[in-house]
Amino acid sequence: VLPGGEPAKRPTAVDQILDDLCAYKLRRREPFLAIGGGCLLDIAGMAACLYRRGVPFVRVPTTLLSIVDASVGVKNGVDFCCRATDETYKNRIGSFYAPSSCLLDPAFIASQDKRNICNGFGEIVKLALVRSVDLFELLETHGAALVESRFQVTDNIPANVGTRIIDLSIQIMLEELGPNLWETTLERCVDYGHTFSKLLEMVPGADIMHGEAVNVDGFFCCILSYLRGYIPRETVQRVLNCMQSLALPTHSADLNPTLAWQSCKDAVEHRHGEQRIPLITEIGESICVSDITQEELSRALDVWKEFEP
Ligand SMILES: NC(=O)c1ccc[n+]([C@@H]2O[C@H](COP(=O)([O-])OP(=O)(O)OC[C@H]3O[C@@H](n4cnc5c(N)ncnc54)[C@H](O)[C@@H]3O)[C@@H](O)[C@H]2O)c1
Ligand SMILES: [Zn+2]
Repeated sequence: VLPGGEPAKRPTAVDQILDDLCAYKLRRREPFLAIGGGCLLDIAGMAACLYRRGVPFVRVPTTLLSIVDASVGVKNGVDFCCRATDETYKNRIGSFYAPSSCLLDPAFIASQDKRNICNGFGEIVKLALVRSVDLFELLETHGAALVESRFQVTDNIPANVGTRIIDLSIQIMLEELGPNLWETTLERCVDYGHTFSKLLEMVPGADIMHGEAVNVDGFFCCILSYLRGYIPRETVQRVLNCMQSLALPTHSADLNPTLAWQSCKDAVEHRHGEQRIPLITEIGESICVSDITQEELSRALDVWKEFEP
């Protein structure tokens, strides 16, 4: 048993699993099961790809976020503290290595606290915004009740809604990741909400979880879409209502002009020379843009504040 949480996602945790696999004398074609949240699954995936140059492993995600986001992909990794710069970089050491299968069971979510469940919804809202108005409508109608019931079946939620939301999310992930497993294409709609959120999460002392930061970023990007005339103001309000019903933050004082512009510059570096920032053109449809200016960001930040609850 390993501790969960981001601080535990370090190379030493991979070592620990390798020690155990070795002591257990795991054979080359014998799969092991990794049961836990996204952090544990990322660590276990690294160990699986290293031990004897690769043994099969089965992912059993136990958080809503890992069920929809860290289950069917092929990425593994740990955060890395570089001795030369004395800085810790998220997911800096990793591999592309597929699990042999994933077992998804929403029963695990019952023991999660609400903040962690809402955090998982942050990634689901993202998928809905870029790919599926049907998923978005399910979130609008049943999201709040599902947070309340911790994804379990109760009298006021139709029995299949929770699994339908997970199935739709996984289906979108498979369709988006499948043809682009090694990320040869850097224009990825699943990167929606992942431009400004990176620096937001890294602000020292910031009390913001990944899915929350993705949501703040995702809502800010709706303002960029609105100001470009891609979506009407009513759509911005509709997205805001849905996010608020899921108790997700849409604003953060840390998202200021400096952080916003630095994020665009980082995006250029991370996405090979172009911003490639996904924006929605309606709920369920997106494009990638690479021409966002500093002035455009400043104007968007002003308008974004008008929507602050
Ligand atoms: N490889 C990928 O494709 C991929 C995709 C998305 C996210 N991730 C990674 O996943 C991590 C975030 O995942 P997470 O949100 O699951 O965080 P996490 O794994 O840290 O889990 C959050 C907390 O919940 C606890 N926990 C796990 N299951 C529980 C349960 N059923 N009931 C109660 N508590 C439970 C954990 O011990 C931990 O303390 C990040 O490091 C992110 O980089 C990876
Ligand atoms: Zn994410």
